[in-house]
Amino acid sequence: MSKWFETVAEAQRRAGRRLPKSVYGALLAGSEKGTSYDDNTKAFAELGFAPHVAGLSAKRDQSTTVLGEEISLPVIISPTGVQAVHPDGEVAVARAAAARGTAMGLSSFASKPLTEVVAANPRVFFQMYWMGSKDAMLRRMQYAREAGAKALIVTLDWSFSHGRDWGSPRIPERLTLKEMVRFAPEAVARPRWLLDFVKSGRLPDLTTPNLTEEGQDPPTFFGAYGEWMGTPPPSWEDVAWLRAQWDGPFLLKGVCRVDDALRAVDAGVTAVSVSNHGGNNLDSTPAPIRALPAIADAVGSQVEILLDSGVRRGSDVVKALALGARAVMIGRAYLWGLAAGGQSGVENVLDILRGGIDSALLGLGRSSVRELTRDDVVIPPGFTRTLGAV
Ligand SMILES: Cc1cc2nc3c(=O)[nH]c(=O)nc-3n(C[C@H](O)[C@H](O)[C@H](O)COP(=O)(O)O)c2cc1C
Repeated sequence: MSKWFETVAEAQRRAGRRLPKSVYGALLAGSEKGTSYDDNTKAFAELGFAPHVAGLSAKRDQSTTVLGEEISLPVIISPTGVQAVHPDGEVAVARAAAARGTAMGLSSFASKPLTEVVAANPRVFFQMYWMGSKDAMLRRMQYAREAGAKALIVTLDWSFSHGRDWGSPRIPERLTLKEMVRFAPEAVARPRWLLDFVKSGRLPDLTTPNLTEEGQDPPTFFGAYGEWMGTPPPSWEDVAWLRAQWDGPFLLKGVCRVDDALRAVDAGVTAVSVSNHGGNNLDSTPAPIRALPAIADAVGSQVEILLDSGVRRGSDVVKALALGARAVMIGRAYLWGLAAGGQSGVENVLDILRGGIDSALLGLGRSSVRELTRDDVVIPPGFTRTLGAV
């Protein structure tokens, strides 16, 4: 079978065949009934295009800037804890993003150290949660600065919702011998995934090296998660405090409401990402693409607006840009690419998106992603959702 795949849907199918069931389940994620997860892709499909047939542009430019970094297409890698998908994990993703001229968000729950990821791609944005003491957060920011992170992403939309109607994968605290024996039948049923790890000489790492405190071992994923759960959520004053501690571009990820977007501007952020965390979070939050136009109208002239959740096609990217985003962030699309083919699988996904963006620009008669406007899309009645209008 050719390693190349033609759509993200095929990458997902291959990830399903290649990954052990629980690892695939952890990527699929979602929460509760999956209402938000479903709406994220359904909403993109509801939007239409209004193409031209002549007077089209022979040259089409996809380059733009995000958080001060030049990127060759309006798509960046969203931060995810990519535990156990591939032995090279986030380093493979960083190499792919560098090869395709784009930037990458690295989760604080990632399995590879920031320095290794920055060595593979200098355009890395470090992602943090509001987690632990203020001193611990300051130490993490210092760590990110010293490692060369170009911007900070702060994700604030998590609401600790853990149940799923289709069942949640069991993820161990550590890969002890007992856990390996329990996991063995799943792994043996996926020999190609297992072989990748055997060849790398490493077991899937379930620790979070970017949260290591001096003189201590890296915390386990669940140890770090417990600390996060136990941290009282931040006020807007806390957000402004956090922002003031970082002397570079600052993205607030997870905004859905107009009033929150306005407060984020007051707190001094550089950018917001309109996001429902890929539907992994508070289920029944509408698809961000529905909430985007109102947020873009309210704050688009003051801060950069990104969007994530549900992007699977180049045409989705173009729809988001037409409705007011500067660029999008992708999550599952590249995780499935990583599972299907490591670094080249992620490059394949970025190439699919680039090809789809190019087709849409051609059809719409645009010569640059910066020319897209709302007139390029057909917005059905009742499509948009204005959350927290002031
Ligand atoms: C398996 C998985 C792990 C994730 N981990 C993080 C994380 O550590 N930090 C974060 O800000 N967002 C995390 N996200 C959310 C993504 O950054 C992004 O918002 C989401 O995946 C976008 O939706 P999409 O998957 O439909 O593209 C995670 C998403 C998935 C699917």
